[in-house]
Amino acid sequence: MSLLGMADMNGDGLGSLVESAVAMKGDPTLNSTLLQGQAIGLFFAKQSLRTWVSCEVAAIQLGAHPLAIRDDTAGMGTRESAADVGRVLDRYLDLLAMRVHDHSDLVAIDNETDVPVVNLLSDLEHPCQAVADMQTIAEHRPLPETRIAFLGDGNNVCHSLMLAGTALGADVVVGCPSGYEPNPDLTKLAGERTGSVTVTDDPEEAVSGADVVYTDVWASMGQESEQDLRRRHFAPFQVNEKLFALAKPDAIFMHCLPAHRGEEVTDGVMDHPRSVVFDQAENRLHSFKAILVDQLG
Ligand code: CP
Ligand code: NVA
Repeated sequence: MSLLGMADMNGDGLGSLVESAVAMKGDPTLNSTLLQGQAIGLFFAKQSLRTWVSCEVAAIQLGAHPLAIRDDTAGMGTRESAADVGRVLDRYLDLLAMRVHDHSDLVAIDNETDVPVVNLLSDLEHPCQAVADMQTIAEHRPLPETRIAFLGDGNNVCHSLMLAGTALGADVVVGCPSGYEPNPDLTKLAGERTGSVTVTDDPEEAVSGADVVYTDVWASMGQESEQDLRRRHFAPFQVNEKLFALAKPDAIFMHCLPAHRGEEVTDGVMDHPRSVVFDQAENRLHSFKAILVDQLG
């Protein structure tokens, strides 16, 4: 079954993925020949460092063969439609993982392919990031007793974090300026899960008493022209030492990366002893191995 978003995943499914990711981290040689002979397509319509490299290495460590496909070569939507790209790649690959602009392209491709489709980030969700994030939080505390504060834009990373956190029983508080709230349908869905979700435009209220403080860039890929406007709107939501000090004394700091130091986060918080941002980046590898085994093993 494809993995297009955390919206389609329940707590049991996500819990097993995290458990499997922990096992992969404990023994990097686990399942080292399981996916021998399988071809894993990694399609990128946007820039990437962590996702690209961790997914390639994950495939290699499981014995599969990864192929990176860049959209500036493929021309999805310009040379041919997203659905036709899917119909073609379906004939060559065992799994198609894609980073796209429009989530609707992923849905269209998934409808046209027999092979599983995995979302490597769309405008709506970043589910693989959320699996790594849940693994990272679980390294510090049990999810059902965790208050996660997300400060920033209510888009892809926020959506997947909110849906994954609440599926595992966490209380998620989203702090964002008015006009940048998460998608109401996804907020409603998160609110129906085991944990809870709250949205506020008060950054101090969001962070107070949090176990996890999480942020993401203010202008996502494709929104660069809005950078100046967003800098003004998001300024009160910067995770600096003063704001981070309102969280619990053992709170951890998280960021999906890349970070714009001096914008959404200061150097002092990025490099804080309780910052786990590079553990998150590492866990992208282990959690993608868990996703591949779940999809193809
Ligand atoms: N966090 C993340 O997805 O990083 P990249 O954009 O570098 O892949
Ligand atoms: N929200 C960011 C996440 C990057 C990993 C973006 O979409 O650019």
